[in-house]
Amino acid sequence: MANIQALRGMKDIVDDDSKLFNYFIENCTTIVKRYGYNYIETPILEETALFKRSVGESSDIVGKEMYQFVDKGKNDVCLRPEGTAGVVRYFIQNKKDKAGGSTKIFYHGPMFRYERPQKGRLREFHQFGCESFGQTSVYEDATIILMIDEILNFFGIKYKLLLNSLGCKECMPKYKEDLVGHLKNLTLCEDCNRRIELNPIRVLDCKNEACQKELQNAPKITNSLCTNCSDDFNQLKSILDYNNISYSVDSNLVRGLDYYTKTAFEFVSDEIGAQSAIAGGGRYDRLVEFLGGKSTPAIGFAMGIERLLELIKPKFTTQEILYIGSMDEAANNLVFSLVNKKRKYIKVITDYKVRSFSKHLNNATKSKATSIALIGENELKNNTIWIKDLDSKEEQSITIEEFFKILI
Ligand code: HAM
Repeated sequence: MANIQALRGMKDIVDDDSKLFNYFIENCTTIVKRYGYNYIETPILEETALFKRSVGESSDIVGKEMYQFVDKGKNDVCLRPEGTAGVVRYFIQNKKDKAGGSTKIFYHGPMFRYERPQKGRLREFHQFGCESFGQTSVYEDATIILMIDEILNFFGIKYKLLLNSLGCKECMPKYKEDLVGHLKNLTLCEDCNRRIELNPIRVLDCKNEACQKELQNAPKITNSLCTNCSDDFNQLKSILDYNNISYSVDSNLVRGLDYYTKTAFEFVSDEIGAQSAIAGGGRYDRLVEFLGGKSTPAIGFAMGIERLLELIKPKFTTQEILYIGSMDEAANNLVFSLVNKKRKYIKVITDYKVRSFSKHLNNATKSKATSIALIGENELKNNTIWIKDLDSKEEQSITIEEFFKILI
C-alpha cells in the first residue's frame, strides 16, 4: 500500500521554515500592535453563505475554489478562503457596529483555496492580515499602506505598490454601465463573457493576452470617479508622495474579491515569479451593512506569508551560527535569556562561563560561529550589546532592543 502523502498544494512547515515562520509572525505582531491592532482567532470553518455574500458569487474564489461541504448536521460550510469575511462576521455578531468608534483587529492563520498549485500558489496557505473599522478618513488608508511598508522594510523586502480607486455606490454603477456597453462589442474569452453579466470590472484583470489587447481602449474607472472618490484618491496619492511612498496607479487593478470600494491596492514583488502579489487589500465601506450590520466604513489588507518567506529566506540562512558570551558576572542572567530568545530563530552557541573578550572570540572562531555578541560591564551600563560579523568583520554596539529585531 502506498504511503499517505500530504494533499496536493498543502505543505508541512517545519525545521528552519517554521523558525522563519514564527520570526515573521512575531515581528509583524509587534509592528501592528503599535498601530493599535488586537489579535483575533476566528474559526477556520464558517457558513458558506458568509463567503458567497462577501467575497461574491462572481469571484473565482467562490465560483471555483472553495473547500465546501455539508457537515453531519446538514450545514453548508466551507474552509475559509480568506480572513476578512470571518472578522466582519465577528464584528457584527458582537455588535461592534452598534457600539461605533474605531476597532482594529489582526489575524494570521491558514486559508484554503482549491486553485491549481504552482510556485507561490498553494491550496492551504497562510495570511497575516489587519482590518480597521470605523474610519472614513483617507489618512487611515495611508496609515495602512505605511504600516505594510514598515513591515516589508523591516524584512528587507523590495516591492512595487499598485494603487487604484474602485469608486463608491454613486460612481461605480454608472461606470459599470459604460464599461458593459464597451465590452459587449469586444471579442473576449469565455470567462470574461460570463463576468460581463456577473461583475464586469473583473473583466479588466483577465490574464488572457488576447483579452488584454481587446481591452486597451476600455473606459477607466479613474476617469469616472465622483467628486468625493476623486478627491479622496488624490489626497491619498498626495499623502503617499509626502511620505516618500512610491506607487503606480493601475486602473485595471480590480482585486479578486467583490467587496471593495474606493481604495484598492496590491504590493507586488518581481523576485518570486508569476505569483507576484505579496499583499493586497483596500476599503470595503459597504460590507458590514451588506452582511446585515450597521453601516461602518472599513479598510484592511492581508499578506501571503509563504510568498514573503520565499523573499526573506535568502537573508536567513541556516548556516548562521551566533555565539553569545558574558564578560561580567552581572551579565550572566541577561546573556542566558538572550541565548534562549535568539534560539527561536537561529542556531546559538554559548559558553556559560564569564570569559575575557579574546577567550570568547577564540571560542566563537573554533566553533565556526558566523557572528559573535558579547556583554561586559560597559554594555550592561548602557543597555547595549557588542556584535561582530565574523565573515565581513563589521562590528558595532547596538541596544538590546535592536539586537532582537535583527536576524542574527
Ligand atoms: P487576496 O489578495 O485574495 O486578499 O490575498 C492576500 C494575499 O494572500 C495575496 O496577496 C497573496 O500574497 C496571498 N495568497 C492568495 N492566494 C494564495 C495562494 N493560493 N497561495 C499562496 N498565497 C496566496 C484577501 O484575501 C483579502 N481578504 C485581503 C483584505 C483584507 N482586504 C481587505 N482586508
